[in-house]
Amino acid sequence: MIYSKIAGTGRYLPERILTNAELETMVDTTDEWIRTRTGVERRHVAAEDQSTSDLAYEAAKIAMAEAGVTAEDIDMLIVGTTTPDLVFPNIGTLLQDRLGIHNCPAFSIEAACTGFIYALTTADKFIRAGETKCALVIGAEIITKLIDWKDRTTCVLFGDGAGAVVLKPSEEPGILSCHLGADGQYRDLLYFPIGPSKNLFNPPEAGAYIQMKGNEVFKVAVKTLGKVAEEALAANNISKDDIDWLIPHQANIRIIQATAKRLDMPMEKVIQTVQDHGNTSAASVPMALDVGIRDGRIKRGQTLLLEAFGGGFTWGSVLLRY
Ligand code: ACO
Repeated sequence: MIYSKIAGTGRYLPERILTNAELETMVDTTDEWIRTRTGVERRHVAAEDQSTSDLAYEAAKIAMAEAGVTAEDIDMLIVGTTTPDLVFPNIGTLLQDRLGIHNCPAFSIEAACTGFIYALTTADKFIRAGETKCALVIGAEIITKLIDWKDRTTCVLFGDGAGAVVLKPSEEPGILSCHLGADGQYRDLLYFPIGPSKNLFNPPEAGAYIQMKGNEVFKVAVKTLGKVAEEALAANNISKDDIDWLIPHQANIRIIQATAKRLDMPMEKVIQTVQDHGNTSAASVPMALDVGIRDGRIKRGQTLLLEAFGGGFTWGSVLLRY
């Protein structure tokens, strides 16, 4: 039996750090409100001239070096993102060119904050089928360019970054299970109002910024992520105690705490980056994974549960042995 296994990880955060104190000077908010309602203390914001592929490129180079692979080894490149550089060519091909990778499938997956989980799941299937020998899987986002910096209900939440993983075949597990889900009936709770085939030259009154009914998103996220975790445990016939680390999407500390509670997991077993990164959408899970690996908390052989929830709504989990 072939499994796919993580051979290396990397992350990149833009240089500029935007603190809650600075946000206090921009909108009617307080550091105390942001910390207690969201857990965010600071976030990184991309420079005007940076695009998502710039962030992804840096994270990919680190992951490839860590895995000991070169451009010639990569035979699949998938990027989970909602903020690609261009409508086309797809960001996967832009990155491919910059990394010197040639003649392999390269594409992006758009599933909002669940983009990386969708991308990792796709790469896992190709590796298990024996068609791919070395996949570069990335979650990268410059979500701050979609934000209305005058809207306090959204501008305090988000940040930019990129996380990358190199996935290779292995006789030992490896990714144990992937579960994806979506329900488009919730589309109006969280969306961006323009796209290449809708409203592009005629933006609606609300403006071309992220629109979110935060309270309602919160409720569905908590309910869904609890179910997602239980679904992964049941599918693998393992108990809550078998999970060494929960690596959740970092949208809001209260959503993370609710999921951990449902799993009876102390917060010490949860990788938390929301305080430093904010919500980086598809980049949040691979960056949190990289943080836990690099600071030595996550060790080879441990069992990790990755999960995410985002606009659509979309959701998903990956259970893996590191
Ligand atoms: N500073 C001060 N006050 C604020 C701020 C702010 N930055 N933002 C909102 N408020 C006010 C509101 O105006 C409201 O005031 P009112 O009672 O006078 O009307 C009050 O605070 C409470 O607002 P709520 O929206 O009810 O606050 P809530 O506790 O729900 O927190 C939050 C808001 C943080 C957005 C939360 O609902 C949340 O995290 N939702 C989920 C977000 C999420 O998970 N998104 C999914 C992923 S994102 C993606 O897919 C791209």
